Amino acid sequence: MAYIQFFDTTLRDGEQTPGVNFNQQEKIQIARQLETYGVDVIEAGFPIASDGDFHSVKEIANVIKTATVCGLARSVERDIDRAYEALRDAANAQVHVFLATSDVHMKHKLNMSRPQVLASIKHHVAHARKLFPIVQFSPEDATRTDPAFLVEAVQTAIDAGATVINIPDTVGFTNPTEFGALFRYLRESIPRFDEVIFSTHCHDDLGMSVANALAAIENGARRVEGTVNGIGERAGNTALEEVAVALHIRNDYYKSESGIILNQTKKTSDLISRLSGMPVPRNKAIIGGNAYAHESGIHQDGVLKEPTTYEIITPALVGVEKNSLPLGKLSGRHAFVTRMEELGYTMTDDEEK
Ligand code: KIV
Ligand code: ZN
Repeated sequence: MAYIQFFDTTLRDGEQTPGVNFNQQEKIQIARQLETYGVDVIEAGFPIASDGDFHSVKEIANVIKTATVCGLARSVERDIDRAYEALRDAANAQVHVFLATSDVHMKHKLNMSRPQVLASIKHHVAHARKLFPIVQFSPEDATRTDPAFLVEAVQTAIDAGATVINIPDTVGFTNPTEFGALFRYLRESIPRFDEVIFSTHCHDDLGMSVANALAAIENGARRVEGTVNGIGERAGNTALEEVAVALHIRNDYYKSESGIILNQTKKTSDLISRLSGMPVPRNKAIIGGNAYAHESGIHQDGVLKEPTTYEIITPALVGVEKNSLPLGKLSGRHAFVTRMEELGYTMTDDEEK
């Protein structure tokens, strides 16, 4: 049974959601709930980005005791040093260093050549490793990077001391078949693949981020990054609650386990929804208001006879009180009579017809 680490970036990538801003007190409240939820790593922010971010990361580092607290840093010494200042008192700390490796980013954004990018990875990962026991390196825009160059970049980071390699689908471009194949290719090309942790970080531009993350897990990823409710830059990130429940419900297939306390799912989701001001769509998997509601008569009859006819997830598993049988124009007699009984009416056989 493979253990899959959960890396939550609700406070960093999640806060990049247009219109979402958490204040320091809210960030601490969220971090505490994420720890209760059982995530392994909390990406608390980007310490160089602002004094506010720095102080929030520092405060979270002071209060979180079991999860690892992480700060983001560009491949720039002062970013890494600032992350260290913020995280030095954490019980468990890690830094997340990133640099883009796709041609489009190197040419238009960084104005750097491939050899310059490799040299920067080598220098900055080595610098980070002098300060942190756990150093995660992300080749940004990995899924649009020439695969042979991606291997060079990843190998350079590992040789310089990276202990976690995160493969980001920065623009939500890939699909599960391709992303699984990319992990297989990395596994075959990197001799020390099993000595470091490979991680996945997906965006949802084409609506495939959860499927892509699961494809990565099937092909050797041992860490999954994402956010609660899938909030994040543009269309958002992998919804961690969906991955956690998928690994649990389809344990027969994924043969993986995690530290996520599933019955904290609803509470965690509600908190993020309230503090981010982002309502959860009713048809959202796992925690949407309709996820445990059955309206058609045939489904209602089945669920009243045996819930597993139409429910693969018990509401209680994720901390939802109970399922519901809303009465609509397609509902059936069985649900109607059940509701009347709940309301205290006893119906005669004639009335039931
Ligand atoms: O999407 C992305 O590439 C990121 C990196 C910082 C990992 O968020
Ligand atoms: Zn991202």
